[in-house]
Amino acid sequence: MLKANYSNIWKYFGYILLFTTILSAVLYKPLPEGFTKTKMDRIIMHIVEPALRVAYYYPSRLFSKPSSMVWWTRLALNHMSSTLGITVNTNGVVSSFWRNWNGVNVKIYQPLYNQTETNGAVLFIHGGGFALGNVEMYDSLMRRMTAEMNTMFISIEYRLVPETVFPGNLLDCENAVDYFFANAAAEFGIDTSKVVIMGDSAGGNLATVVAQRRNERNAVPKLAGQVLIYPLVQMADMQTISYRYFFDHLDGLALVDPESVAYYYMFYAGINMDEKKYLVKNVVTNGHISKTVKQDINKIMEHKHSLEITNNYKNATIKSRANVEESIEAQNLLEQLLMNPDIFPLMRKNLSGLPPTLVLTCEFDILRDEGILYADRLKKAGVPTTSINYENGFHAMLNFHSELFEASESVNDIERWILDTIGA
Ligand SMILES: *[C@@H]1O[C@H](CO)[C@@H](O)[C@H](O)[C@H]1NC(C)=O
Ligand SMILES: *[C@@H]1O[C@H](CO)[C@@H](O)[C@H](O)[C@H]1NC(C)=O
Ligand SMILES: *[C@@H]1O[C@H](CO)[C@@H](O)[C@H](O)[C@H]1NC(C)=O
Repeated sequence: MLKANYSNIWKYFGYILLFTTILSAVLYKPLPEGFTKTKMDRIIMHIVEPALRVAYYYPSRLFSKPSSMVWWTRLALNHMSSTLGITVNTNGVVSSFWRNWNGVNVKIYQPLYNQTETNGAVLFIHGGGFALGNVEMYDSLMRRMTAEMNTMFISIEYRLVPETVFPGNLLDCENAVDYFFANAAAEFGIDTSKVVIMGDSAGGNLATVVAQRRNERNAVPKLAGQVLIYPLVQMADMQTISYRYFFDHLDGLALVDPESVAYYYMFYAGINMDEKKYLVKNVVTNGHISKTVKQDINKIMEHKHSLEITNNYKNATIKSRANVEESIEAQNLLEQLLMNPDIFPLMRKNLSGLPPTLVLTCEFDILRDEGILYADRLKKAGVPTTSINYENGFHAMLNFHSELFEASESVNDIERWILDTIGA
């Protein structure tokens, strides 16, 4: 039934695009200094950002039920994203097909030639706040990387919230990864010592949790690396510098905002947000942190302060921490989960033994600081870790890998790191 509607929406999509482009002129909002790297990138973002505002940011805020907001955002993003990456042409170079592994659909991308250049593979977990996105949204990125690296990619179609909740998303990813190692790697002639896991945003969370859990149960073969792109790794401090920078400099732009992160985490945590929506205002001030967990949290976050003063947005004015608006209800709902590393991987106490890691963060992203902090903890635990902070980047820029210069550069950085790690 939905299918029929889709083709109708598709028909009007061209008009919608034209309409939003015109609106973007009307809805012009200045982007902060340093946002995007080149003049061309800036022009593109001055069209994309207001278009996103009109297509999903404003409408999604009209819904009284957060679950309706998720449905709308999902629909809007799925359609808008189909206009991206259209210049990536890998016809005749990459073949792709679907399989079902342990009940989980995966899309496999194989280079048609030079298949044995690396004879490794990359397992990819897409982002979208555990609630949005799908494999097709990342199709052009997968095809591009498969072709450029001559390496097989597997993109996992895990279930989303609110249809499932934690640990549903995670177990789907884990089941697919387990199936790959147990059955599929041999079928595709993969050297299982050369397998890297990679994910962006919520996918970065899922990727590193899969890696941590394999490490903890000493699963073999070991992963050869993990690539974590602006990952979501914690909910213990929603007032880091990068969170606070948002309120002064990015508020009102269609970029990932603190409230949305609170919503998505709470959905993932299994909280009925249609009933508990009012807790978000407490959570964004850290009102969900109870006395019981505060000490454990402070221990994990101990180098936070030194990182914050060295990553202070070139001395831009950032307000000091807002007053904590405590909510006993939020504390009770989240107390059991905040230190659970299967949902918040920054909280894993022992990180040693994890595979070599690449962590990418972006300056214009509320999640910048937690990515930097996780990279720092990995280094301290002796994990070979490379971290790159894109000075002009923003959250979700990877989705614009064929449109924006800096996003494209970041893909090149990832490719170089993976090929160095698993050997060409
Ligand atoms: C295989 O890879 C090499 C080196 O990357 C390249 O020169 C060659 O054109 C590729 N062959 C095919 C058939 O794609
Ligand atoms: C920020 O301020 C510190 C101390 O005042 C100064 O040493 C530093 O050069 C400034 N950094 C930038 C990027 O302006
Ligand atoms: C941490 O994990 C590593 C590797 O899994 C293990 O060798 C080590 O004993 C662990 N350390 C502690 C304190 O549990």
